[in-house]
Order: sequence, then structure tokens, then C-alpha cells
Amino acid sequence: MSVNKIIKRVTTNTILAMKANGEKVSMLTAYDYSTARALDDAGIDVLLVGDSAANVFAGYETTLPITLDNMIYHASAVARGAKRALVLVDLPFGEYQGTPEDAFKSAVRMMKESGVHALKLEGGVEILENIKKIIDAGIPVCGHLGLTPQSINKFGTFGVRAQADAEAEKLKSDALALQEIGCFAIVLEKIPAKLAKEVSESLSIPTIGIGAGNGCDGQVLVVNDMLGFTKDFKPKFLRRYMEMYDGMVEAATKYAEDVKSGNYPNESEQY
Ligand code: KIV
Repeated sequence: MSVNKIIKRVTTNTILAMKANGEKVSMLTAYDYSTARALDDAGIDVLLVGDSAANVFAGYETTLPITLDNMIYHASAVARGAKRALVLVDLPFGEYQGTPEDAFKSAVRMMKESGVHALKLEGGVEILENIKKIIDAGIPVCGHLGLTPQSINKFGTFGVRAQADAEAEKLKSDALALQEIGCFAIVLEKIPAKLAKEVSESLSIPTIGIGAGNGCDGQVLVVNDMLGFTKDFKPKFLRRYMEMYDGMVEAATKYAEDVKSGNYPNESEQY
């Protein structure tokens, strides 16, 4: 008799309850089915199909070129691999900053065609009406403040944001507005740890930090970075849990040697 293990799905309610209970939220990015399966097996709470796929998967310098079709492709692969984790996906640049109706259409396409559970949108009061239109349709939204990579051409650098008082004040009021409108969480990227802690303590929804210190309610990293697959990317906030690039070079070198020498395949590896 086969015993099917019942896996309880992480939902946006689970994430909100974690904040209420003081439990930190673990989030990693994923862009494909196999990685999603491994991260899900590891018990990661949220898999973020980040538009950082444009950087680490496709090799673009910024996240701007990735399309809605590209993101739907990545998101549906991750959704098929995740049995327990909540799957969250970025709406890409240009797909939600126009009218609320435009944003709504992109959101509905993503939800229908990918099978994910929630969407992430970058920005504060400027896109509030658009976020409201999406949330009102029953689609959970996670905000994203601080270093919002889709605005890199406005910022000019990938440096720490909200160090000046005016930008810090705007970030605080944006965070409250996002909570007020119904967002279930907010990613805080590359801002001073003191500010991130203050914002986190002022909200009842969880903040998920990346380069925002230990006072956030959860943490997210780009999986390729924390596995050491992006060899030369070493920002201060990044902790590497593996040296995957070096391991791949070593394995591929050994494979090439074995093929050249006739050592692969051996008798037990053929039919
Ligand atoms: O696209 C992404 O990977 C992200 C994370 C850096 C938060 O938005």
C-alpha cells in the first residue's frame, strides 16, 4: 500500500502568521523546475521567481529586458517543482507601471498561465492604484522598496538606498501605504539595517530583507549567488553556502579528461 505524504502548502496567511509568531521567513529565488524541487525539499518557505533571471539566467546587465512571456515560462516551471513553498513571481518592467487596467491584465495573464500564488511589484505610492486593482481581484501582492532594480537607470548605481533623510522618510510612508492597501509582505533591498528594523517594527506584515540587515522578518537571496554559481559577485551582504562554479568547472574538467582518455563510459555504463 502506498502512503501519500500530505504536504501543507505555505500560503500568504502562513507568512502573516509567521510575523505574528516571531518566526522568520526564508525565501530564495528559483527560475527552473529542478532547482525549485531542491529548494522545496529543503523547506524554503517562499520561492521567488525573480526578474533577476534576466541577470543570472540570461546574462543581461539589468532586469529591464526580461518579458512577461519569459517570466511566465520561468514561473510555470518553478510552480511545477514546488509542492510546499509559496511561489511568488516578479511582474517585469513595463508590465504594471502604466494604467491600473494594464497592470491588472499582466497580473491576470501571469496567474492564469503560470500557476503561481502571488506577485511582487516594485515601487510605492506611484503605483498604489495599480496594486489596489490587482489585490481587489483576489491576487496577493508583495511590495518591494529600497533598491528597486527596475529603476536602475534613475538611481545610476546599485549602491545602498535611503541613506538620506528624505528618501528614508519616503520609504517609511511607502511601506505603510503598501500595508494599508493590502500587500501581504514587502521586500526591502539594500537599505541601512537601522531603517529596515524601524520599518519592520512599524508594520504588521512581514518585511523580507536582502542587504537590509537582521531586523527584517525574513531574508531572501538570489540562489545563484548563495550557491556560489555567480563567481565574481561578492557584495558585503552575501553569504555563500557553496562554491558551485568551482565545483562545476572541476566536474566538467574531469568529464572532458575521461572522454578524451576513453575512460568514460566504462563497461557498466553501456548496454
Ligand atoms: O529579482 C529578484 O531576484 C529580486 C530579489 C533580489 C529580491 O527581486
